[in-house]
Amino acid sequence: MAILTPALPIIVALDYANATDALATARALRGSGCAVKVGKELFTAEGPSILAALRELELPVFLDLKFHDIPNTVAGACRAAAGLGAWMINVHASGGRDMLSAARDAIGGDRHGPLLIAVTVLTSLDRPRLAEVGLDVEPAAQVERLARLTRDCGLDGVVCSPQELAVVKALGHDFLAVTPGVRPPGSAQDDQQRIATPAAAVSAGADYLVIGRPITRAPVPAEAVAAIAASLPGIRRQD
Ligand code: C5P
Repeated sequence: MAILTPALPIIVALDYANATDALATARALRGSGCAVKVGKELFTAEGPSILAALRELELPVFLDLKFHDIPNTVAGACRAAAGLGAWMINVHASGGRDMLSAARDAIGGDRHGPLLIAVTVLTSLDRPRLAEVGLDVEPAAQVERLARLTRDCGLDGVVCSPQELAVVKALGHDFLAVTPGVRPPGSAQDDQQRIATPAAAVSAGADYLVIGRPITRAPVPAEAVAAIAASLPGIRRQD
């Protein structure tokens, strides 16, 4: 199945509980040049049919299921996700070297499979919470360690906050940084704590911006995408 790719470095988070709501927003984004993100809630509720419906709207999909299991199981899950035509998929870097390599091998090392991205440290985990699960390290140090491992295993990049962009991009210009926590100037902060504007995040090295509510709750979502795109200093594409 050919992979659709976005024209813009903008991934709109479809954080909905059902296909009806998700597809209403997706239809409003058709032709805007963005990709969309399908997470655990929507995928668990609707299954693979949601990807087929988004494909009909010609929207590339980041399937954000954050696989984390033994290497053989994650390899199979990545193969299945690739078979659904996702443009980008992800795993947890803390699954370790063998799991990351198995994921990479499962979808091929060439440029025909989906982009394979790793989550480093969940932003919900601060230093005390990391210590509680046996990791007595600064979160930033753990992010760097896992990002390096991810790159060494041949994955395409990591998910990181705007604050971690410098550390991640120091590992290589072509190592992708996918960044949530982005808010256009003047929009509601919602429950995001450490935010950056789209322009600041791209200037700091973000390759793709994950943005939800500022776009999905806009009166005309495609116009919100266009306004954010127009604010960006220079657009890097994945061709
Ligand atoms: O609506 P909002 O722009 O805050 O949505 C951001 C999206 O990025 C959500 O789907 C959220 O789960 C995701 N995300 C995040 N922070 C992270 C990782 C993912 O906001 N550290």
